[in-house]
Amino acid sequence: MKINEMTKINIQKKKILIRLDLNVPMQNNKITSYARIQASLPTIKLALKNKSKIMILSHLGRPTENKFQKKYSLFPIFKYLQTKIKNTNIYFAKNLNDKIKINYGEIIIFENVRFNIGEKENDIKLSKKYASLCDIFVMDAFGTSHRMEASTYGVGMFAKISCAGPLLISEIKSLQKSIKKPQRPLITILGGSKISTKFNILKKLAKISDTTIVGGGIANTFLAIKNNIGKSIYEKDFIKLAKKLIKKYNILIPIDSRTLNICNTKKIYSMKNSNLISDNEEIMDIGDKSIIKIIKIIKKARTIIWNGPVGVFESKKFRLGTEKISYAIANNKNAFSLAGGGDTLAVIEMFNIKKKISYISTGGGAFLEFIEGKKLPSLQMLKKKYIQN
Ligand code: 3PG
Repeated sequence: MKINEMTKINIQKKKILIRLDLNVPMQNNKITSYARIQASLPTIKLALKNKSKIMILSHLGRPTENKFQKKYSLFPIFKYLQTKIKNTNIYFAKNLNDKIKINYGEIIIFENVRFNIGEKENDIKLSKKYASLCDIFVMDAFGTSHRMEASTYGVGMFAKISCAGPLLISEIKSLQKSIKKPQRPLITILGGSKISTKFNILKKLAKISDTTIVGGGIANTFLAIKNNIGKSIYEKDFIKLAKKLIKKYNILIPIDSRTLNICNTKKIYSMKNSNLISDNEEIMDIGDKSIIKIIKIIKKARTIIWNGPVGVFESKKFRLGTEKISYAIANNKNAFSLAGGGDTLAVIEMFNIKKKISYISTGGGAFLEFIEGKKLPSLQMLKKKYIQN
């Protein structure tokens, strides 16, 4: 792949703007998984070693533009980085106009890029503004490389020099290697709450998989074809597509679920067959019969692609499905397991199975899109820049 690489160009005493993916799972303004931050540390340290002026951009969650919302602030991540990078001045800028001057060998972290007007639309003015901050733009946010946004695409087009960071390069090389000739049966497990963005990916992955197991909001959308799913999250607009997919491919939807009755103040949890869910219930996890069925399939798999929990794993009461599936993947010594995504990383950390997963990507959607063979906009930008430079 012909792109500039941070490790191969002169970054000494340069103003470097690094786009990282520090979009980590949070609960009550507290970080619940440090995996993505830790994966980004070598890149920051490489820039520090070269005595660059380091500026860091990242998004966190999906806030409304031009509206500060504390729960999406990068401040807790900045505080964490301060503890991880010792003997270095690290500053936090509330916005791009914050006039904090840094010296060589110092770091500034800007507030969530998705608060900036035009970020999501890849706005030219904003892209130029980012680019004007630096001599070199480093794209190292593999997890966001599937987004064509001002800080992942536009900035790179306008910066004098744009290059890929070491994390981006290693992700691409490792993923390319691992998906070259997958052993069969190949199964995909797709869960989580980001329904709309994952549905199109599901279409492609179902095509290459022998079995596709769905959980979370995606599973609920399939269940909603024929069943009442009460107050569970799902995507109405994707029911039509779900109908088509289930006819065409081998997609496994939960046969039973753990539910929560949201009207009952005593918070009653039940286990229900998927066709017996009532109006006031919300699906929170898969049920025991589904767990048994899924584990059997995982045991026979030779390649496993895994993205997303199958229930609300943050709560102890609704963790069992995700826990059992995680251990089944980890204990299948005959399979090559590929896992990715913010929540998936949190699950892997929670159940301490990191060493038993063959390859863990920092990307979620980007990881899946790369596997399905889609062109990632940030990589396209880096290729264009390579030709131009
Ligand atoms: C992710 O968590 O997959 C990446 O950080 C991208 O986030 P997004 O789906 O909100 O663009």
